Amino acid sequence: MVGQQYIRLLDTEPWFEISILVGKKSAGKLYGEVTEWVGECDPPSYIKKMKVEEQVPLNSDVDLLFSCLPSDAAKEQEGLYARSYPLVSNASAYRMEKDVPVLVPEVNSNHLGLISAQKEGRGWKGFIVTKPNCTTAGLVMTLKPLDDLYKIKRVIVTTMQAVSGAGFPGVPSLQIIDNIVPYIKDEEEKLIKETKKILGRIKDGSIVDNELMLAASCNRVPVIDGHTESVYIEAEKEIDVEEAKSSMASFKGLPQELKLPMAPEKPIIVMEGSDRPQTRRDRNAGSVPGMSVVVGRVRKGLDRNSLQYTLLSHNTIRGAAGNAILTAELLCKLGYLER
Ligand SMILES: NC(=O)c1ccc[n+]([C@@H]2O[C@H](COP(=O)([O-])OP(=O)(O)OC[C@H]3O[C@@H](n4cnc5c(N)ncnc54)[C@H](OP(=O)(O)O)[C@@H]3O)[C@@H](O)[C@H]2O)c1
Repeated sequence: MVGQQYIRLLDTEPWFEISILVGKKSAGKLYGEVTEWVGECDPPSYIKKMKVEEQVPLNSDVDLLFSCLPSDAAKEQEGLYARSYPLVSNASAYRMEKDVPVLVPEVNSNHLGLISAQKEGRGWKGFIVTKPNCTTAGLVMTLKPLDDLYKIKRVIVTTMQAVSGAGFPGVPSLQIIDNIVPYIKDEEEKLIKETKKILGRIKDGSIVDNELMLAASCNRVPVIDGHTESVYIEAEKEIDVEEAKSSMASFKGLPQELKLPMAPEKPIIVMEGSDRPQTRRDRNAGSVPGMSVVVGRVRKGLDRNSLQYTLLSHNTIRGAAGNAILTAELLCKLGYLER
């Protein structure tokens, strides 16, 4: 699922070119023959003709690897690859290691400062930067401007997550059509730990977790792409609803400042309609489809220090391949990919 988004997005991304594809079951075969493509258009013809390799040779001249391995394989292989290459990973295997950044480029680009200690500490020529779980990516984007203004104390979030989040072939149709499954293995734990890390600060060369408390309920719903989340926050300071909305709508980060190709003009789009955001209508909103988090129904909570809203984030773009490509553009622009 994520690999297909990489191929689609990198086909028009101006800075990177795919030179090798790696798989396990498909190794040795042509990509076009083995892939069950789920996107709307066919894969580019040069990709269809590429042979899927078993691994990347450790002495090749590639500048960067994107990993979308399942977690077990990632644990085993990403560390080996990082001895030779910079690697941007979608998998959870290394996310919670203390010298590994979990990056949403608009939110915590300063965490890239961990890379030099990671290389030195592990004796690697390359390094690993991860991106968060697809559910975390949308949530932290919206929490960041609110935390900066009001210092968030508690977050309660209920998610409605698309089936593409479970990879290919994903959730069996008989379990998800006409149904909602109120459990996604390990998802709530990841959402809590990653949010605290991404919103944490760097102190003495390592990340100190943000102290906010978070309770999550994650549900799988019959939607193809796009995770929706209902969010309730309580802060230390009083929250003005209009000010909260404009802080999200005007939020920008280093990718926008550097005008990176995958950076959306508006990382957060705030919608006013009382029935928005809607998955089908809004998951591709904004200047770079799938890269903006769309927020709506921003309203007061139970007291002056609380706020409620709904967010929608494209899970395989902002939540996976798109966020990773934006991270790679940032690494490139900041000189981390120079040999
Ligand atoms: N789907 C999402 O929305 C999403 C969002 C964020 C993060 N993620 C994470 O991204 C990763 C990929 O997710 P996905 O949804 O794309 O899963 P997927 O559809 O199951 O794809 C997994 C890919 O990994 C390859 N693979 C499996 N074992 C391998 C091995 N030992 N060596 C080399 N290649 C191997 C498979 O190739 P073969 O078919 O050739 O074996 C396939 O291309 C996971 O860690 C997932 O948790 C997914």
